[in-house]
Amino acid sequence: MSVVIVVGAQWGDEGKGKVVDLFTERAQVVVRYGGGANAGHTLVIDGQKLVTHLVPSGVCRPGTSCVLGDGMVIDPHTLLDEVAQCQGRGLLVQGELLVGLGAHVILPYHKLLDGLREDHSAKAGRAIGTTRRGIGPAYEAKAGRRGVRIRDLYRPERLHAIVRANVDELGPVFAHLGGTPPTEAEVARWIDDALAAGERLRPHTGDAGRHVARAIAEGKHVLFEGAQGCLLDLDHGTYPYVTSSSTIAAGACQSAGIGPTQIDSVVGITKAYATRVGEGPFPTELHGAAGDALRIAGGEFGATTGRPRRCGWLDLPALRMGVRLSGMQSLALTKLDVLAGMPTVKVCVAYKLDGKELDEPPIDPEDIARAEPIYTELPGWAKLPSHATDVTDLPDTARHYVDTIERMAGVPFCLVSVGPDRSETIRLHDPFA
Ligand code: IMP
Repeated sequence: MSVVIVVGAQWGDEGKGKVVDLFTERAQVVVRYGGGANAGHTLVIDGQKLVTHLVPSGVCRPGTSCVLGDGMVIDPHTLLDEVAQCQGRGLLVQGELLVGLGAHVILPYHKLLDGLREDHSAKAGRAIGTTRRGIGPAYEAKAGRRGVRIRDLYRPERLHAIVRANVDELGPVFAHLGGTPPTEAEVARWIDDALAAGERLRPHTGDAGRHVARAIAEGKHVLFEGAQGCLLDLDHGTYPYVTSSSTIAAGACQSAGIGPTQIDSVVGITKAYATRVGEGPFPTELHGAAGDALRIAGGEFGATTGRPRRCGWLDLPALRMGVRLSGMQSLALTKLDVLAGMPTVKVCVAYKLDGKELDEPPIDPEDIARAEPIYTELPGWAKLPSHATDVTDLPDTARHYVDTIERMAGVPFCLVSVGPDRSETIRLHDPFA
């Protein structure tokens, strides 16, 4: 029996989709534990692309139980579209999906509020750069004990009462932010749509916590799939430039309702370089042509919003912070192939701030923005062999890069990805072993 958490080490988009899909070879249950349709996983199976936002990446292995934990915020319409897309590909047809009845529901007013707040804050230069998927407002409602949970979709009277109370309260906020409070007819339609979506989802809903606990008790391999990355964590990330959920490994226990003693292993995912979407400090960001070249080489455009991702050199202080926050015992390195063809490759080994050298980012985001990266420059490599099965198959310079990161992050690699396909992977250690 093994229970493994897979988590993004920095600001998300580390390539978790491919890694989770590979690990799912061994897992019988895959649990998505945080966030909502702000995430986007791009999976390439046999050359065909599948993008998921809510359904865990385990979806590509028929028969694997795919669970959406109670800690998530779910837009039922997005989920239904995704289920239809998967079923059109012959996936999720055996009743594999289980949506926690305790998960919160994203309703149109959450999305409206997210967009209005972003526009309003942008005028004052304070936008977060959210995905506008209603994530923050839905988690606010949850913390304020006025959220709608999936189970409320089966209690129409309760749903009506919660939504109407929320919309009444939010009316002046909409107006303050320059929006128009919704009409009675709009609110009635939102509620009807939510109830209809709930009915369609009903066969896929249940007690996710007990399902996961039972699977663990039965000795099954369970994989928890994080969304976003550790530095976007609400408590420990680069606040306020974070998402509104617990993205670190601890969030898996919180979302599924299982104890930390059940976890056997935590695997972090890091790209061979760094990216960030939205606002917030990013010391190793490359601007101009160098950033554009990396973005194009890596296809760094958001799977959810299509936004160009900010690109830069690998940031070891940020990586070390992710390793610490999630207690990572091994790392998966992705997209090593993207750096091929560069004469030299830089890695930020520390920051310099006010004359001091720091091995992790400082606490305040303004200090992170002021921090000066200290780089080491390593020789680059030409094209990587796509069918490499061992690090010894890599060119010496690429291997040196991998060894340097491993040594300086202080955590061994369990996998190195040299291309988007399943086959383009060097497997070093199986976290389920
Ligand atoms: P929200 O999660 O939509 O509220 O966005 C808050 C911040 O998290 C923004 O900077 C987003 O760009 C970022 N973010 C949210 N989800 C993801 C993701 O899956 N990958 C990368 N960044 C994300």
